[in-house]
Amino acid sequence: MLLSLFMKDAEGVHFLQWCLPKLGLVWPGYRKVRRQVYKRIQRRLETLSLPTLADYQRYLETHPEEWTVLDSSCWISISRFYRDKAIFEFLEREVLPSLARQALAQGEPVLRCWSIGCAGGEEPYSLSLLWKLKLQARFPTVQLVILATDIDEQAVARARRGRYLPSSLKDLPAGWRAQGFDHTTEDFCIKPEFREPVTLLVQDVRQATPEDTFHLILCRYLTFTYFDVSLQSNILRRFAERLQVGGVLVVGKDEGLPEGEFGLVPWSQKEGVYRRVQTESVVT
Ligand SMILES: C[S@@+](CC[C@H](N)C(=O)[O-])C[C@H]1O[C@@H](n2cnc3c(N)ncnc32)[C@H](O)[C@@H]1O
Repeated sequence: MLLSLFMKDAEGVHFLQWCLPKLGLVWPGYRKVRRQVYKRIQRRLETLSLPTLADYQRYLETHPEEWTVLDSSCWISISRFYRDKAIFEFLEREVLPSLARQALAQGEPVLRCWSIGCAGGEEPYSLSLLWKLKLQARFPTVQLVILATDIDEQAVARARRGRYLPSSLKDLPAGWRAQGFDHTTEDFCIKPEFREPVTLLVQDVRQATPEDTFHLILCRYLTFTYFDVSLQSNILRRFAERLQVGGVLVVGKDEGLPEGEFGLVPWSQKEGVYRRVQTESVVT
């Protein structure tokens, strides 16, 4: 079966438009990355010896446990270091200094961050590099710690290995590659001092929320791209509960938040940065 042919693409689109809503996912999020999903579904059809997508649709209707496998075919793992450079510059210039000053004023010099859908570790390690290379000297008594979670065990295992090809590092500021990584003949390995603040955990953001409260939550190119509005609102409510007052939520550049009262106000809507304000309805 050649799903890359036009007709097969039409079948793939039809299939995704049928199954995604049943998983709480939305078609527009998958339009550009659908071929990645097709490849995985193709492999699954081969494993199950099913010749067509129509057969797979029937199989799903009679095997409810298969929906979990299909859900895992829809995890999109694209990431890179310093993805959307402007947001990391905004974090460096505005957000992290403000959060650090606030933490110092409150006599609590630990900044707790949560990177959700951390893929192979590119996002949490970018934050760790940014803090240690640019801001730690200005705030020597403040410690930044990062909880990084992803549903995909293999992605978390990649993050634990911390080894990257040059293409993943191309957006990093000049000099950071040499400062942050040990270069082998094959790849670049993140140095221990930049790994040390990052705790990696397999976790489904739809099911679980860490116990801690956070100063900074990064949730980019996951919830607000792929999930339906009802899931988005449910998750956003939990984020707001987990953010300290004055804490910050960062979403992807072109991602919007669902309508509703979540106790979050835009700091820079252009960069996808929101600040938690005190409200009566949100638990502190
Ligand atoms: C497109 S990547 C985004 C990576 C990173 N946040 C960035 O912006 O570069 C989305 C990640 O979310 C993970 N993911 C998908 N569904 C998830 C879920 N329900 N809970 C937690 N992580 C999930 C995927 O495994 C993938 O690593």
